[in-house]
Parts: sequence; C-alpha cells; structure tokens
Amino acid sequence: MKLQRNTILITGGTSGIGYEFAAQLLALGNTVLITGRNQAKLDQAKQRLPQLHTFQSDVSDPAAIQALFEQVTAQFPALNMLINNAGEMHKLNLQDPALSVFDVTREIDIDLAGPIRMVQQFLPHLQAQPTAAILNITSGLALVPFPLAPVYGAAKAGLRSYTQALRVQLQNTRVQVFELVPPAADTPLNTRFSNGQDLTKLIAPKDLVAGTLQGMEHNTFAMYPGLAGMLRIMSRLAPDFVLKQLSKGVAEAFAQPQPANQVSAR
Ligand SMILES: NC(=O)c1ccc[n+]([C@@H]2O[C@H](COP(=O)([O-])OP(=O)(O)OC[C@H]3O[C@@H](n4cnc5c(N)ncnc54)[C@H](OP(=O)(O)O)[C@@H]3O)[C@@H](O)[C@H]2O)c1
Repeated sequence: MKLQRNTILITGGTSGIGYEFAAQLLALGNTVLITGRNQAKLDQAKQRLPQLHTFQSDVSDPAAIQALFEQVTAQFPALNMLINNAGEMHKLNLQDPALSVFDVTREIDIDLAGPIRMVQQFLPHLQAQPTAAILNITSGLALVPFPLAPVYGAAKAGLRSYTQALRVQLQNTRVQVFELVPPAADTPLNTRFSNGQDLTKLIAPKDLVAGTLQGMEHNTFAMYPGLAGMLRIMSRLAPDFVLKQLSKGVAEAFAQPQPANQVSAR
C-alpha cells in the first residue's frame, strides 16, 4: 500500500494513536480527515495541524455514521482509506450493583459495533476507488481476556475476529484490510485507566505509528509491535499462564469494603 496522495479518514484522531497517525500521514503527503466527539479537542488538533479536516461524530451512533458518510464523501470523493481507531477502555467490576446496561455495553458500541458500522457504511465507496484500505486498531488485549476491563477485551477480540474475516472476504478486491494490534502505549486512554502510574516506559505513539506505516507499505496485514508480539506467542503457548498474569490486581482493584461489624470483630 502506497502511503502518499491518499485521502484518509481516521476515527478518534484528536489524541494518542489516532492523532499520531494523522500527523505522520499528513507529513507523507496525504489528505487527512479526523473525527471525535469533543469539538474543543477537534479544534485543538486543527490548531496544531492546520491541514487537518475535522468532523464531529460519535462512532457509537449509527445515525452519526450515516451523516458523516454523506458529509465526507460529498467533500472528499477521493476518500480511499479508513482507519478505525476511536476507542475507550473502562475498568468494570461486574459484581457492582450500580453498573448500568450502558456501563457494560459502551465499549461494545464504540470499540466493536462502531468499526463494523463504519465499514458497512463506507465499503461500497472504498470499493469504487482504484486502491483502498481499511486499518482496524485492535489491541494486545484482543489476544487474551483482561479481567480488569472485561468488556474492552471482549470488544477487541470481536473486532480482531471480524477484521480477519473481512480480509478473507475482500481478498480479491481492491480494498486491503490491515490490523494493528498495539501493546500498552503512552496515551490519554492509559492515563485515564491507570490512575496516575508512570506510563513513560510504554511504547510512544510516535514509534508505534511509524512502525505501523512501514509495515503497511510492505503489505504486512497484521502488525504486532513491541510487547504485543510477545503476548501473541505467549497466548498460544501458555494461555492459562498469561491469563493468570493479567488477573493480578483484580482482587485489590475490586475489593469490597467489609461491613463495620466484621472489621471490628477482628
Ligand atoms: N493506548 C493503549 O495502550 C492502547 C493499546 C491497545 C489498543 N489501543 C487502541 O488504540 C485506539 C486509540 O487509543 P488511544 O490510546 O490513542 O486513546 P485516546 O488517546 O484516548 O484517543 C481516543 C480517541 O478516540 C476518540 N473517541 C473515543 N470514543 C469515541 C467515539 N464514541 N466516537 C468518536 N471518537 C471517539 C477520542 O476523542 P473524543 O473523546 O473527543 O471522542 C480520541 O480522539 C483505541 O481503539 C484503543 O482501544 C490503545
């Protein structure tokens, strides 16, 4: 896949990995469009990268996806690449009686249904282009359950399965299907998730994206940078061991406060 002179739509391009894709793809000479829900963050991104085109759109809302499609294809008929990047990750204690249906389905709507709906909406347009591509951003946590964020892992595992099936179905078409399986990276998503832990040892979005673009240029269809490569091997060789490692901290994170009479009985 050539990464110059394309017209590329990135969902969730205002921070982290999506913003870095936008910056590097602009620098390579592409037309880049980004989405996000927060208009102030879209404006900030546009200030930092004035050539960007920004669209406020919520990937979990099917009506917003249709409106986005109409706007984008009217203004940018040469659109030939879709990067499904928008995502959220939440710590969820499934025994918490206060959890709502929204709490336990939000990541399905954003991280799984969102990309599937985007592909369904944009695929006929992509198929009409001389060359086209879809890049889905899954996660190392698609490879093994992650008990701290159980719905996130389920959504990403679903997206990975869908992406592999989509690649098979589109193999004799002009639309190439790529998957990036990132390891934990130093982005706002992790800052929110990890409650102030030092994230600077994690892979920087800049390096993650530079490596991914190199991979795409060489038609590497599934990319497992850094620790994601190790997780891929370990999840095949020793899945129970990996699950045990990723289960550490769950008891502490979701510890129930003991009733007062039990505490005083000690
Ligand atoms: N960081 C990691 O360690 C890591 C590891 C593996 C995979 N990933 C995946 O990489 C992708 C990017 O994550 P990141 O770490 O760069 O996160 P981030 O910095 O929090 O960025 C997420 C982006 O998605 C947008 N977004 C979130 N929900 C949206 C929605 N419903 N509709 C439209 N836009 C939405 C956000 O903007 P608004 O909030 O304004 O909408 C923001 O632009 C995600 O799919 C994530 O699951 C991240």
